[in-house]
Order: sequence, then structure tokens, then C-alpha cells
Amino acid sequence: MSKKNELHASKHLHPIHTNHVSLNLNVRGLARSATVAINELSNRLRLEGRTVYKLGLGQSPFPVPECVVERLRQNAHQKDYLEVQGLKALREAVAGFHQRSDGIRVDPDLVIVGPGSKELMFLLQVAYYGDLIIPTPCWVSYAPHAQIVGHKVQFVPTRFEDRFRLLPKTLDQICAADPGRPRAVILNYPNNPDGLSYSDKELKKLAAVARKYELILLSDEIYGKIHHDGNHVSVARYYPEGTILSSGLSKWCGAGGWRLGTFAFPPSLRWLMEAIASLASETFTSTSAPIQYAAVRAFEGGKEIDDYLVHVRRILKALGQHITACLREAGARLHDPEGAFYVFPDFTPIADKLAARHIHTSQDLCRRALEEVGVAFLPGSDFGRPPAELTARIAYVDFDGAPALTVALAQAPDTPVDEAFLREYCANTMAAVDRLCRWILEKPSRRRRSSTSTETPREISYGK
Ligand SMILES: Cc1ncc(COP(=O)(O)O)c(C=O)c1O
Repeated sequence: MSKKNELHASKHLHPIHTNHVSLNLNVRGLARSATVAINELSNRLRLEGRTVYKLGLGQSPFPVPECVVERLRQNAHQKDYLEVQGLKALREAVAGFHQRSDGIRVDPDLVIVGPGSKELMFLLQVAYYGDLIIPTPCWVSYAPHAQIVGHKVQFVPTRFEDRFRLLPKTLDQICAADPGRPRAVILNYPNNPDGLSYSDKELKKLAAVARKYELILLSDEIYGKIHHDGNHVSVARYYPEGTILSSGLSKWCGAGGWRLGTFAFPPSLRWLMEAIASLASETFTSTSAPIQYAAVRAFEGGKEIDDYLVHVRRILKALGQHITACLREAGARLHDPEGAFYVFPDFTPIADKLAARHIHTSQDLCRRALEEVGVAFLPGSDFGRPPAELTARIAYVDFDGAPALTVALAQAPDTPVDEAFLREYCANTMAAVDRLCRWILEKPSRRRRSSTSTETPREISYGK
């Protein structure tokens, strides 16, 4: 290297402006995802010796079905990059899955596989040019994706009285104001955070509005297979030409950490799939090869997976109903969950009692519950609700699903899952809800700040 070049290189090896923060404007102020943050905080507090009940992160407590794990073992040696859209055998298995589960025909060439559906949803927002309509409460990541991309989002608050459903007439009113505008609507059901689904009738009506205005529906049905009664219906059945169907392994297959999600497109949206595939080729290249081979087994289905799902649903349904009853007794209003592993209580009926304890927002509620009784869950404000609304999401997943499932599998599918079962096999979640309900019912003056551990009380820096 010449003297001149050496000098030039060393200048670049030692950047001078180490304190200068140059962030993309869209990324400024962006915090870690609330669900990821609450999980990391709970783990940190546990490591510090505090008792923390983890009702924050929405992660399946159940193990991955053994036949799928075995397929992963057999494919650990797979090391090559795979096709951007995903392994052909996997795309065929995904098409077969949607045909069997949802009664819709999917062309395997119109399936794309990604490292989690979250990544595919992000790339969809990067690729799509039109407006986005998102009913709230909604999953925590749709809005940050939009912020990163600089997308215009129209949030549509739904009402407790309407079971937090997007009403067809509301959607119609929004679109009628400017009928020709390109728009995509994100539907998610069974829903995170409220655990509620749409009826057949509601889906047909929404589909009719979507067809009238040629909307794109991104239907996030990642919890479809854990509808508690196994009655999930895809809106793609009623609006096949405009629905992108999102699924993946994370929830029904207990494999969130494997990172595999799928999108299935209709032929009319091939242009959007091609754009997402190009973005994928320039970013993640392809999804982990061993995981894709194993996922073929998951999407193929069969008796072992059907049995697994029957018993996962039994446990989740019983637990969800029990928790709902406890929270109602403690003064919250909430709907019986229909799927997934969430409830979304609204503590507005006891707002006065909470205000007397200096709890005025959903953030206050969750911060104080974590500080005072060690129960971690997320405020409604993380899901697009107004801060002063006293809603919160409880993910009832703090238990080891493996023993619970082993015992359940040995029972007949119609055996009721009683409280004794829940106390034994879902013990942490049950204890957390007991603690939370007792704490909610406390009188204002009993304590202002106590701690869950033997240490002196102290404030926890919470969430975002
Ligand atoms: C509603 C919803 N959609 C999508 C995802 C993303 O799932 P993954 O990226 O693991 O496929 C989640 C995960 O929590 C979710 O709750």
C-alpha cells in the first residue's frame, strides 16, 4: 500500500464521530417490540432472583410435535441456500394444508416462505404502495412496520360492545369516502390480543365490502389452527381473488423460535408476490434449509398432528375460560376467548377503584402489577388502544406444555379439562391469575409499593 493510501485507510479505521447518532428518520424513536421487550425484562428480573409470572410474550407453551422434530433431525445436514420462495415440496405442502384446512385452492407457485410471517409482513409493507387499514386492538408489529417504511396507516378503533370486530359498515364508510384508492386491510383472527374470531356471517359481509372496493386483505390467520373449537374459517373462502393468507409454524406447531412463516397469494396478486420475492432475495435470501425440510412434515398434517391439535385446543380452551371467569369476578369486563392464548380484559368498570390507587392508564396498570405482584403482561396501549383505556393483554402461556400435553393425550378428547388439571399442569399461569385478581381487588390504602422478592421494593423500568 502506498503511503498516501495507508493514511487514507487508517483514517477510515478510526471514525472520529463516535458520539454522533445518524439514524434514519423513520427509525428514530422506534423501541424494541413490546412483546420482545417484556420477555427480556421478565427474564432479567428472574435472573435477579425475583419471582416473575410471564404472561407477556405470546409464545406457545407446547412442544413441537415429535414427528416434526424427527424430520428436523433427519435434515440437520441440509446446508444449501434454497429457492427464494421456498422449497417446492414445502410450498406444495402449504398448498395442501390450506386446501384441507380452509377449503381453498392455492397454487404452490404462489406461496412464499419466510423466516417468520413477521418478516413477510414487513416486506409486504415495503412492497405495497396503497393505504393500510388496521383495526385496533391489533398485533404490536403492524404499526412499527408501517412507521419504518413510512406508510400511511388508518387505524380503525373497534368497540368492546362489537367484540372488537371490524364492522363491514365501518369498512364500507371508510372506502366510500374515496372509492378508487388502493387499500390493503389487515385482518387477524383468532386475534392477538383479544382471542376473538369472526363468524361465517361476519366474514361474508366483510368479503363483500372488500370485493366492492377491490381491497387487498392480508389475513393473518397464524392462530387459525388453535381456534378452540377447531372451527376456524378463512376469509379467503369468500374473497379468494383478493386475500393473502398468512400462516406459519410459530403458534399451532409450537415452533416460534424455528422462524418459519408462509404467505399464499391469489393469481391476481402475483405482482405483489414477485416484488416480495425480489425483496427477500436481497435481504434474507432464503429461509433456513433444515427448518424448511422439517416444515414439510408439519404442513402435511396427519393423525399425529391432528391429535396434538385436539388436545392443545382442549387445554387452551379450558384455561382461557377459567381465566376469563376469574377476571370477571375481579371486576373486569371481557369476552370469552375463541382461539389463540390471549384474553383482553377491560378494567374500565373498576376505573374509580384503580384511580384511588393512582392507576390511570393501561401502562400504570401493567407497571404496577409487575412491580407489586410480579405478573408481567402488556398494556392495551401497545395494541393501538388509547392510553387511558384500561385494557391489557394477558397471554396465558406461562406453563410447560409438554407434561400437560402428555397427560391430555392419554385422555379421551371429550374429557373435560377441570380445574384440578389446570392447577397441576398450568400451575404458573393459574398462580399468576390468582395473584393478579387478588391484587386488583385490594383496597387502595393497603400498600403503595411492595416487591415480589425479599429485596427492598424498587421501580422497574417497564416495556418501551
Ligand atoms: C398476530 C400475529 N401475527 C404474526 C406473528 C408473527 O409470527 P411469526 O413471525 O413467528 O410467524 C405473531 C407473533 O406473535 C402474531 O401474534
